[in-house]
Amino acid sequence: MEESTNIAVEFAGLKLANPVFTASGTCGYSDELADFMDINKLGGFITKSITLKPRKGNPLPRVVETDSGMLNAIGLANIGVDSFIAEKIPALEKLTVPVFVNVAGETIEEYVRVTEKLAGQKAIAGFELNISCPNVSKGGITFGTDPMQVSEITSAVKRATGDKILMVKLSPCVTDISVTARAAIEAGANALSLINTFTAMAIDVETGKPVLANRTGGLSGPAIKPIAVYLVNRVYNGVAKAAGVPIMGVGGIRSASDAIEFIIAGASAVAVGTANFIEPGCAVKIAEGIKKYCVRKNKSVRELIGSLQV
Ligand SMILES: Cc1cc2nc3c(=O)[nH]c(=O)nc-3n(C[C@H](O)[C@H](O)[C@H](O)COP(=O)(O)O)c2cc1C
Repeated sequence: MEESTNIAVEFAGLKLANPVFTASGTCGYSDELADFMDINKLGGFITKSITLKPRKGNPLPRVVETDSGMLNAIGLANIGVDSFIAEKIPALEKLTVPVFVNVAGETIEEYVRVTEKLAGQKAIAGFELNISCPNVSKGGITFGTDPMQVSEITSAVKRATGDKILMVKLSPCVTDISVTARAAIEAGANALSLINTFTAMAIDVETGKPVLANRTGGLSGPAIKPIAVYLVNRVYNGVAKAAGVPIMGVGGIRSASDAIEFIIAGASAVAVGTANFIEPGCAVKIAEGIKKYCVRKNKSVRELIGSLQV
């Protein structure tokens, strides 16, 4: 392959064949996807959030379609870290691409315990710290909106990761995302992912009630993409570029061109979420589309990162 059209990237010390990941919570634990796509054709895989104990999540309905997007209030439903290790790690061990496990919890101690239990697993390249979930009553977004708490939780979890990468997932529901980004970087984050969903609401006008049983949910999909691109660019210019910390761009990506927007804005990699519900397997097509773009432009992905012309 010509170096000029190479789509391989480095991400926090990892060598990725291409920059495309699955976004947390939209592709399960990986085994669910086997019929739809070859995960080994991606840059890497991110699991759904894992907590210390199993969680049923929020009552139904917990998903609703909106204009150009969806609202979800899943509430971190998952099988808990012990069952995850027993039942899901074997499939992840077979993958040849790097795996990030997304970690969530109600207390800092819970995040640390989950990370400690997983830190010795060979199948795992790194952790994604979910401090930005809008759909849980304890923990979640409350950690991610206060820079002091971002700092505290990042350094506590960093001590538990051993030699594995710590990527901190930021919430867009803040006044200035570069403040929380800086707090995470100064506390030891090796990478940042942004953005998680926006807290939002849909109302059934016949009943006058919220559509979601949880009342609010997280807005994702194409509706949030331009905001996510802007926030990636803001964090890249304001703090991440100077610190040498790579960004995983997330939010409304459904095509190669969407992914390239994030890369030009400053993302070194991207993650595809809601689009998987419309076309499972689209992440592989997006990686192929990025390759075609690079050939057409005679550029490598590395050259594109943060190449915004202003
Ligand atoms: C149904 C659903 C479940 C999600 N679950 C998680 C989760 O468990 N942990 C997490 O960090 N983000 C979760 N997210 C957020 C996504 O990873 C992503 O940050 C967000 O949806 C924006 O990307 P998108 O517009 O491509 O979906 C979830 C999103 C959706 C739509």
